[in-house]
This record gives sequence, structure tokens and C-alpha cells, in this order.
Amino acid sequence: MSEPLNVTVELGARSYPIWIGPGLLDDAPRWRSALRGRHVLVVSNDVVAPLYLQRVVSGLEGLAVSTLILPDGEAHKTLDSAARVFAALAGLKASRDATIVALGGGVIGDLSGFAAACWMRGIAFVQMPTTLLAMVDSSVGGKTAVDLPQGKNLVGAFHQPRAVVVDTSTLSTLPERELRAGLAEVVKYGALGDAAFFTWLDQQADALLARDAHALAEAIAKCCSQKAGIVSRDETEQGERALLNFGHTFGHALETATGYGRLLHGEAIAIGMLQAARLSTRLQRAAASDADRLQALLARFGLPISIPPGIDPQRLLDLMRLDKKNVSGRLRLILWRGIGQAEIVPDVEAEAILMVLEKGLRAEG
Ligand SMILES: NC(=O)c1ccc[n+]([C@@H]2O[C@H](COP(=O)([O-])OP(=O)(O)OC[C@H]3O[C@@H](n4cnc5c(N)ncnc54)[C@H](O)[C@@H]3O)[C@@H](O)[C@H]2O)c1
Repeated sequence: MSEPLNVTVELGARSYPIWIGPGLLDDAPRWRSALRGRHVLVVSNDVVAPLYLQRVVSGLEGLAVSTLILPDGEAHKTLDSAARVFAALAGLKASRDATIVALGGGVIGDLSGFAAACWMRGIAFVQMPTTLLAMVDSSVGGKTAVDLPQGKNLVGAFHQPRAVVVDTSTLSTLPERELRAGLAEVVKYGALGDAAFFTWLDQQADALLARDAHALAEAIAKCCSQKAGIVSRDETEQGERALLNFGHTFGHALETATGYGRLLHGEAIAIGMLQAARLSTRLQRAAASDADRLQALLARFGLPISIPPGIDPQRLLDLMRLDKKNVSGRLRLILWRGIGQAEIVPDVEAEAILMVLEKGLRAEG
């Protein structure tokens, strides 16, 4: 096995590695060093477990191991599922030095991380992400959460993993639509802070869509190192980390307005980023040509670029007002000065947003 790419999230004593490469699930000698104690609970779901669980469990020989396989889907990122994780840990007689291994996409990662943050006030956990979105985003940075009927990610904690094991060969089974949704988050990193990476993505688009192993590993490493840098400077989102939400205020509003499930998260973010870019142009903060380049790259990745028909712009605006990032009723958005230059804009005029949303409904899709 060739040496994986390696990125470190620098957080003093809580620093941790992200290993990226094909076949890493089988490389237990590497990742076992991140486990603590004798007790390990592997959490996965009924789509991912049949494909990959055995490879992880084989690497845990000699330890007290239990597995928990949850039903697939965001609908199961709940307190009930967290309670099932706690019951499994209790069944394993896990103490404070137990480890949870999260094997799956962002749903399993967020839920397992949340349970790890709570069990005996915090135990170790290791992320083994198997979707592109989880590899470049949710498995890194320590945001964990479950959903409530009242809203997504309402109950959560910051709890960093002890390692992130990105086995890129697991992407071979990822459905095409999920891959493309993950590519939206990849584009986000270029858009928000790295113009050279954005250009590279343009050049490598075909290779990425064809799941070329080298191109994917390089893209994932680039995203992870950008996120690692931001997280190490601003772990709890007092400032800079908010830039990672480029496109997300629009995107979350779209997800709610269309009903969860119609648009994948990454698809909503693609539309959202483009709205943020168009709004930046309208507010004369950025050139229209940069938004055009973003639109072209997203379209090349087969991502949606216009707001689905039938959505009322006023309703989207109302939903955007509910965003966690707003301060004192003012609309605080992540906009940009152009490709690679996102910025936090504290008080955006509702009128301008509404005009961009109305145009976004009519854009070519
Ligand atoms: N914590 C964070 O910082 C953060 C950031 C972004 C998103 N999130 C969260 O991530 C979640 C979305 O994550 P996601 O997009 O990975 O969704 P997901 O976990 O639901 O995975 C998408 C689908 O792909 C399947 N799948 C996973 N890996 C596979 C593989 N290798 N082969 C075949 N099928 C596979 C899953 O079972 C699921 O059906 C949301 O809950 C979101 O809130 C968290």
C-alpha cells in the first residue's frame, strides 16, 4: 500500500491526523494507534455496513468490539438513535476510555460524534467517512449534532475526533448523485479561499467525475488542509470558520422550502453559492464574470444552478432570517469579493436579496 496523503488538524494536545488514500480501511496498524482503551463500538448504517464493516472489524482483533447498524438516512440522525448508541456502549460495558468508530457518511459521523461527546462526558472517536461530502467536510472539525423535529442540527457539541481515516476506494460504490453533491462542497473550498484550487478543479473536472483515484485524493487533501487550517485558527466559529458556510444560508433555506430530501445538501449548496455570488455582484462587491465561472463549473459537475420552480422568493427570505448566523435580526451572509475571497457581510439589505432570488428562479437550470 502506498503512503497515504496526510493532513494534520493542529489543536495543541488535541491535534489529529487525517489520512487520505485507497485501501486505508485495511490498514489497521496505522489507525489503531488512534483508538483508546479496550472497548470499541463501530457505528454504521444498513447501506454502508454490508460493503465495508467487515474490513474495519477485522482490524480490531484482540479488542472488545461491538457494532451498531442503524437504518440509513437523515431521518435517523436523532436523539433516539443516539440513545441506541448509548445502549450499545452500556452493553459493551464501555468506560471512559472506550472509542466509537463512525463508518459512513455525514449522518453517521455527526450522530456518532455527538454520542461520543456525551457518553461519560466525552470519549474518543474516529471518523471513517465514506461519502465525498463527509471526507471533505463533516468528518473534519469536530461539529457533531442530531436533528430535532423542530430543525436540523439543533442539539450538538464541538467534539474533535482522534483521527480521520479517508479510504478513497469507498467512493467507488457511492451513487453518482451523491458524488456530484460532494463535489459542490469541494467547489466551495476553491470559491471561498483558494482561486488556484478553483482553476485546478476546472482542469480536473473530467477526471473527478470519472472518479480518478489520484485526482480525488488530491482534491480531498486540498479541502481537508484548508478546513484544518481554518478550524485550528477558529475552532468554535467566533469568526473565520463562518466562511465555510459560503452558500449555506441560501442552501439551508432552499432545503427547508423544498422539503428535506428533494434536494441533496450539496445540491442546495450549489444553488446557494451561486445566489451568494450573484448577490455579491448586485452589491458591487465582485465582478459578474466570477459568478459566471462559478456557474459554469457547477454546471459541469452536473449540479443544479437555479432555484427550483414554484418556490416563493419571499418565503426563502423569511427562512434565511431564521439562520443561526444572524445577529440581532440582521441578515449576516457570507458573500465574496470574487473567486477565492469570501467574506462575512454583517447587514445585507433584504431588498437586494429578494431581487437576486427572483432572478435565480428564472436562471438557466
Ligand atoms: N459536522 C459537520 O461539520 C457537517 C458538515 C456538513 C454536513 N454535515 C451533515 O452531514 C450529513 C450529510 O452527509 P452525507 O451527504 O454524507 O449524507 P449520508 O450520510 O446520508 O450519506 C448519503 C448516502 O450515501 C450512502 N453511502 C455512504 N457511503 C457510501 C458508499 N461508500 N457507498 C455507497 N453508499 C454510501 C449513505 O448510506 C446515504 O444513503 C447531514 O446530516 C449534514 O447535516 C455535517
